[in-house]
Amino acid sequence: MPRSEEFKEWSNFPPSKPMKGKDAPGGPRVKTYVEGLDEKMEGGIPEGNLVLMAGEAGTMKSSVTYHMAYQNALKEGRRTLYITMEQSRQSLIRNMEGLGMKADAVGDKVSIVDIGLLRKNLGKELQTNSWLEIVKMYAQNMKDSSGYEVLILDSLPVLETLSDFKNPRVDLFQFYEWLRELGVTSLLVTEVKGDAGFGTRGEDYLADGIIHLMMAKVNEETVQRRLRIVKMRSTNHSTNLFSLIVDKGNFRVARVIST
Ligand SMILES: Nc1ncnc2c1ncn2[C@@H]1O[C@H](COP(=O)(O)OP(=O)(O)O)[C@@H](O)[C@H]1O
Ligand SMILES: [Mg+2]
Repeated sequence: MPRSEEFKEWSNFPPSKPMKGKDAPGGPRVKTYVEGLDEKMEGGIPEGNLVLMAGEAGTMKSSVTYHMAYQNALKEGRRTLYITMEQSRQSLIRNMEGLGMKADAVGDKVSIVDIGLLRKNLGKELQTNSWLEIVKMYAQNMKDSSGYEVLILDSLPVLETLSDFKNPRVDLFQFYEWLRELGVTSLLVTEVKGDAGFGTRGEDYLADGIIHLMMAKVNEETVQRRLRIVKMRSTNHSTNLFSLIVDKGNFRVARVIST
């Protein structure tokens, strides 16, 4: 094949979907919209990546992931499916409104589904289905009907508990494979205690990315929020620890000032 033909082939690649954010190195990215953070990871999370949002209770895992969905809907019209399992849809909406994110502003661009409620409303014959099957069924149906690009699962430990994973490593591996085939960018909210390693069941090495949210004791009376990109495949990212500052619905990271 002559070189010009070869180039034409390559320049048509991929043929099915136009490239978004072409200027982003390493392919299109989904921005976190946490001010100061995207530039620390070549523009955001690579599209199609499966990322763990890990941290202890109260570290704002739900808030940061919802904020990401919210801003992507507002600024880019990007659709997200947010599956809530730890708290009800209403409670989540109330908390997010408290942080200045009005659900009405994004309409159906951010669909929040309460799997517990959904399961209760399913017919008798479906009630025996495992939670995992219901999550997969719903995520697939919504993908076919609304074509969302980002899937948020809040949270992975709750899904595991309710689904009664027989062999957590294998079940988790298969679930990750399933998510990748779904062709979306996935954010899985997960627990991590203190500075202990990630993933007792291998979710750390199976994931494409890990963003760790934590609290740090600065002195006797002050505890601050921190955020760190532990891992992000195909990305030259900062590994620094940042302060996470949330102020009137504005999320940003800043350099940690040592005191
Ligand atoms: N309106 C608000 N302004 C600032 N911080 C808030 C507000 N509402 C909740 N928070 C903080 O967010 C925390 C809960 O965030 P959340 O995203 O639910 O955490 P996680 O999902 O990690 O448990 C609360 O403990 C509180 O510190
Ligand atoms: Mg939460």
